Amino acid sequence: MSHRKSQQKRMRVKIISMGNAEVGKSCIIKRYCERRFVSKYLPTIGIDYGVTKVSVKDKEVKVNIFDMAGHPYFYEVRNEFYRDAQAALLVFDVCDRNSYDTLESWLLEMKQEMGRNNKMDNIVFFVCANKIDKGKRMVETLEAQLWAEEKGFKYFETSAATGDGITELFQALFSTLVEVSENGGRPIKVNTNLGFTKEQADAILRIKSGRDNYEKLGLHHSATRDDINKAYRKLAVILHPDKNVAPGSEDAFKTLVNARTALLRNK
Ligand code: GTP
Ligand code: MG
Repeated sequence: MSHRKSQQKRMRVKIISMGNAEVGKSCIIKRYCERRFVSKYLPTIGIDYGVTKVSVKDKEVKVNIFDMAGHPYFYEVRNEFYRDAQAALLVFDVCDRNSYDTLESWLLEMKQEMGRNNKMDNIVFFVCANKIDKGKRMVETLEAQLWAEEKGFKYFETSAATGDGITELFQALFSTLVEVSENGGRPIKVNTNLGFTKEQADAILRIKSGRDNYEKLGLHHSATRDDINKAYRKLAVILHPDKNVAPGSEDAFKTLVNARTALLRNK
């Protein structure tokens, strides 16, 4: 094999992890690299560095992982590590609403650190909804998936505790990076076509979270039979399971039918 050819078969990538303290960044990486999980919380101090090797197609990939501390206290330590990253894992805890809401400010911090000729467009972002094994979820799949789609990021659900989704996440990440490299370093537009619209997703979320039947149908308590039927028909078209592949659409449709029946009974 010529020197040139062997060079082409080798690749180096730099991945960083981002997200609030305690969302599970280090555990996700540990689960992938060491196939184990530690339940005791050991905060990352500033930054942790690790390296691993993987093969993707015919390429040998040397993966440099910079695992950032989420705590604001370590901002000064981690800020210099954003540069030259090819990929970023944006991690939040599905049971901690705030960790999801804060993802935007992580992107902002990164943007600031990347400087004026900011090359964020060239970075591959993977959103990671972690701790799906835990009890009470505060962030629905649909909502987070939509946020990721709007940004053009890929979306994965994981549990570092059980290992669910971890292999899939890293395999997808590495193969995307190899594709990008084969494309001359230019990012490939990720196909995030979910097969459903924001209107459908919003309807499902409202029906799921509405506190009573009126709220579920987007109606005021003074609504008439006519209003109820109109709202029902509009939502039924949006939500009909035959047309809607969004997760939760079947349940939402059933809830919609029941809500209408119950409301009409009282009129
Ligand atoms: P910082 O380094 O402080 O930014 O935190 P981190 O994001 O690296 O979090 P870490 O991986 O240290 O995990 C925080 C806590 O969450 C630990 O107690 C872990 O055991 C726990 N944890 C991480 N992932 C999971 C998970 O998928 N499920 C459950 N149940 N617990 C998890
Ligand atoms: Mg950590």
